[in-house]
Amino acid sequence: MSEQDFIPKEYPKTVESGKVGWESPSNIALIKYWGKKKHQIPENPSISFTLTHCKTITSLSYIKKKKEDSEFSFEVYLDNEKKDDFKPKINTLFKRVEIYLPFLKAYEFTIETKNTFPHSSGIASSASGMSALALCLMSIERLFQPEMSDGFFNKKASFLARLGSGSACRSIEGDLIVWGHTDSVKGSTDLFGIKYPYKIHDNFKDYQDTILLVDKGEKQVSSTAGHNLMLNHPFAKERFQQAHYNIKALKPILESGDLSAFIKLIESEALTLHAMMMSSMPYFILMKPNTLEILNKIWLFRQQTGLHISFTLDAGANVHVLYPKNQASQILEFIKSELVAYCQNGHYICDQIGYGAQLIKN
Ligand code: PMV
Repeated sequence: MSEQDFIPKEYPKTVESGKVGWESPSNIALIKYWGKKKHQIPENPSISFTLTHCKTITSLSYIKKKKEDSEFSFEVYLDNEKKDDFKPKINTLFKRVEIYLPFLKAYEFTIETKNTFPHSSGIASSASGMSALALCLMSIERLFQPEMSDGFFNKKASFLARLGSGSACRSIEGDLIVWGHTDSVKGSTDLFGIKYPYKIHDNFKDYQDTILLVDKGEKQVSSTAGHNLMLNHPFAKERFQQAHYNIKALKPILESGDLSAFIKLIESEALTLHAMMMSSMPYFILMKPNTLEILNKIWLFRQQTGLHISFTLDAGANVHVLYPKNQASQILEFIKSELVAYCQNGHYICDQIGYGAQLIKN
C-alpha cells in the first residue's frame, strides 16, 4: 500500500453532528524505534507489546460548520479542563492528515480526553493519545463511507496515528505489533503498524509489565530531539541494521517460547537504546541512579531464582519489568519488597499485554 491509498474519493454520505469515542492503550517496544525520517518514517523496524491498563479515553464531538472556512476549529479538554497547550500538537496533526481526511475543516470539534495513568508519571501519553484521536477521526470517516472494511479502518487509523506520533501507530491492535519495513516480516511497512503475523508461543500470552515510576518529571531531552540526534550519529547505520537483525532473531524465540533468549535480546535492545543516547552529540543520559539499582537487583534476583524476570526501558528513567504470568506471584512479591523502594513516592503500575483499542459504544 502507499500513502495514495489513504486519500479518499468523494464521500457517498455526510453527517451533521454527533459524538464518537475510543479507548486506546499505550505500548512498549521490545525492539526499539529510535531515529526517523520526515513525518515519522522510521529508520528501522520495531516491535511492541500492546498494553492493557495504561490507556487514553477520548471522545470527539463534531458539528458541521454553517460555512466551511480555512481554519481547523477545535477545543481540547483533559480531565474536563480546557487544555490550550495541547492545541499546537493537534493542529500539526490536523495539517498533516487533512489530505487523508478532507472533512476536517468542515466541522467544529470538541476533544475530551483522559488517561488512566497519572499525567505526570513519566509515561508518555502520545502513543495512546494520538491513537485514540486517530481512531475517533476514522469513526467519523466511516460514517461517510459505511462500506469501509475493518482491515482498512485499522490500517488507516494506524497510519494517521503515526503522523501524530510514531509509536502511536503500534497502539491500534495487539498483542504484538510490527512497524517499519523489514524483509523478515511479511507485510511490514513504514506507513503503519501490522499485527505480528507469525506464531507466538503461549509463554508470551498474558505477559506482565509492571512499570516502575522512577522519575515522574519532565524529560530533559524530548523523544523528537532524541530521534533527530540519530541523524548524524556515528553508530546509526550499524544500529539500524541491528534492529533488522534483532527482529529476525526474535522470530524463532517467539515461536519456541525460549524465555532466556527473549530476555537476552530485549534487555540488550533496551540498553542499546540508551547507549545511542549516551553516544549522541550532544550526549545525554535519561536513566537515573535508581534505574541502575533496579536493573542490578533484577539481574541478581534472576540469577538466584532462575525466574524469567527481565526489563525494558523507553526514553526515560522508568523501568518496565516484564515476566510471564505463571511466575507473577513470586516476581510481584520481589518487586514489592525490593524494587518499589526505588520508585518516586513508591509508585508503580501493574499492566499486561493487551489486544488493542476499543470503541466506546454510545
Ligand atoms: O513515538 P516517539 O517519538 O515517542 O518515540 C518512541 C521511542 C521509544 O519509545 C524510545 C522506542 C519505541 O519504539 O517506542
